Amino acid sequence: MIRAGVIGHPVSHSLSPRIHNRWFEETEIDGRYEAIDARPEDFVEAVRRAAGDGFVALNVTIPHKEKALEIADEASPSARAIGAANLLVFRDGKIFAENTDWCGFAEAVEREGGSLAGDTAVVLGAGGAAAGILYALQDFENVLLANRTRARAEALAGRFPNVTVVDWEKKLELGATESGLFVNTTSLGMAGYPTLGMILGDPGPAMVVDIVYAPMETKLIRAARKAGKPVANGLSMLVWQAVPSFEAFAGIPPKRPAATLADLEAELS
Ligand code: ATR
Repeated sequence: MIRAGVIGHPVSHSLSPRIHNRWFEETEIDGRYEAIDARPEDFVEAVRRAAGDGFVALNVTIPHKEKALEIADEASPSARAIGAANLLVFRDGKIFAENTDWCGFAEAVEREGGSLAGDTAVVLGAGGAAAGILYALQDFENVLLANRTRARAEALAGRFPNVTVVDWEKKLELGATESGLFVNTTSLGMAGYPTLGMILGDPGPAMVVDIVYAPMETKLIRAARKAGKPVANGLSMLVWQAVPSFEAFAGIPPKRPAATLADLEAELS
């Protein structure tokens, strides 16, 4: 039996076990995908225990993604460039770090007809999710990045040469700036947080992505839909990052990932 899972803290809300266990069933692979809750101080020990217990891989979620990269014996170029891993594969007594988050973002954009190259893209937020998204936007000429804490945006801009930092106070102007993509990676708009308060002006973005998916339709996404723009949210990013993750431990791709996404979307909206 293939054992895999997701490690995080907290992790009980994670949709990954449902996604991967459904895919094990659909592909008729004898596998089990579990959620492992580990506090930061217990993370390394919990990873070692999982490897010792026969897990072939672990997805990694908040707050362990940077630590996961640190403890790996080897890392993919994307995990290194992003500075975080959301997948650890155990092979030959070694830990390999991968990042499939940026693939999830890229796939979510392309599936909705968006483009990952062009003149300008806009990204709000410079937290954990932003680096993977900036990695996926390297073929844009210019990525305008705004974050409440400017120093975090500056740090990211130092790592990605096409990124220009814009004042957080100027974020409203970014909603009217002509861009190929507008991406919210902040927590704003999430249940329990203030809304982003963004107005999409003219000409504005060709496509809008909001990494938030609780609620499924943020004000930003609703405004974009109303303006007839293609959109993607954090749920589609989650499902599309799960595809290469599943392939890494199951050896074959899932059968109907788009149906999984549609079902989750219907259930959660
Ligand atoms: P994650 O790892 O999930 O990205 P994070 O690192 O805490 O979480 O990042 C959350 C993002 O939302 C950050 O860009 C954060 O801005 P700061 O870097 O200034 O903290 C942003 N964010 C959270 N609450 C915010 C608020 N009330 N106003 C503006 N930005 C906010």
